[in-house]
Amino acid sequence: DLIVGARRGSPLAVGYGPNENYLGSDSYALKSMTNKITYLEDNEFCIIKKDEVEFYDAEGKKVNKKILELSKDDQNYDKGDYKHFMAKEIDEQPTTIKNCVNEYIDKVNNTINIFNFPWKRDDINSILLIGCGTAYHSCLMAKYWLEQFTSVDVNVDIASEFRYRKNRFKKDCLYIFISQSGETADTYAALDLCKKNNVKTCSIVNVVESSIARDSDLVLPIYCGPEIGVASTKAYLGMLVAQLVLAKHWDKENKLNITFEDIKSIPNLVKESLKCENEILKIAKGISKKNDIYFIGRGLDYALAAEGALKLKEISYLHAEALAAGELKHGTLALIEDGTPVIVTASQVHLLDKTTSNVQEVKARGAFVIAVGDKNSHKLEKIADQFIRLPSAHEILSTIISIIPLQFIAYHVAKLNGESIDQPRNLAKSVTVE
Ligand code: M6R
Repeated sequence: DLIVGARRGSPLAVGYGPNENYLGSDSYALKSMTNKITYLEDNEFCIIKKDEVEFYDAEGKKVNKKILELSKDDQNYDKGDYKHFMAKEIDEQPTTIKNCVNEYIDKVNNTINIFNFPWKRDDINSILLIGCGTAYHSCLMAKYWLEQFTSVDVNVDIASEFRYRKNRFKKDCLYIFISQSGETADTYAALDLCKKNNVKTCSIVNVVESSIARDSDLVLPIYCGPEIGVASTKAYLGMLVAQLVLAKHWDKENKLNITFEDIKSIPNLVKESLKCENEILKIAKGISKKNDIYFIGRGLDYALAAEGALKLKEISYLHAEALAAGELKHGTLALIEDGTPVIVTASQVHLLDKTTSNVQEVKARGAFVIAVGDKNSHKLEKIADQFIRLPSAHEILSTIISIIPLQFIAYHVAKLNGESIDQPRNLAKSVTVE
């Protein structure tokens, strides 16, 4: 009847139950048992018995700690009629995105609900977006929006790279940390480094009680509810929407050319896009036995390709690679041969011709091309072997919804191959170690 826990670096949480108490790596691990949680700070330790928990600092002095009450969204811990959490989470996206949009957009006044922004916009001359994996991919896309539509410089960094580089910390830079779990060790270490250098920090997270959220100056939640499948789906869309809202908030000159009505239409567009699942079943069959699959795109679609390829490889274990379409001729084109699947998205009108000519290049080498577009992508549709038509929308929204068919491709390929979709080998949902 005794557990001792000590925290240094990775997160640690105590949960309280009836005549039993728990120790876990974060609130997710404990949420199915209790919604009452206490987080340990670095260098604290705790002594847990079934009816009592005591906390101490590094010197062994007793400390009183708050018990946090987390929201009880129990239904989200159940797969319901779904075979996998990933399938459920893909389908939940219209609802989770609606929640996110509703939290950020005041529908009556058409304003953005970010009231607690603690800095003057003029005090910020640059933004650095930092994350890992899917969160990093969401940053790659948001960079285009923030850069194009605000007057600030925007850069993106992988947390594990940022933390070991000799950085020049700038007082007029806003460091934004993106993380579903809010516990990723590399992202947290990058935030910690920024805190030690007294710069402005903001986090975009799903788990608002997480270490990253607790330690940032400003928190922008993505309101997705628990995401259980290791492959991030609804959180990716939530990260995109939160960053789009931030870009709009920043865009006082209205350069973004995206209206509140456009943003409010995202949940419905996502819902319409989910209808492509049946078509994807056929496509998945065609590629499930291939060894190498390439994802190509330009601009926003390159960022999207990176996420599509990651989704496929992490759950299907097939080799997938994302490329800026214009880079093909600089090397990778050599790998394209008869039947190599190439998946292309082209949401930006001004890049459509260029992307189409890259598709011609791979077709000429025998590639089997699967294209995602809308009713205006005639040229692409004509040359693709298979075409997935999504609803037409503002091009920023088109890129956002184009992830839906790519999520389905990853899911159905992995399912056809009998892989363990929600818990792929070698991976964890929260990467709390380096
Ligand atoms: O919780 P985080 O968003 O910080 O996690 C970052 C990555 O570990 C995560 O996105 C990972 O790449 C996913 N498994 C991708 O689906």
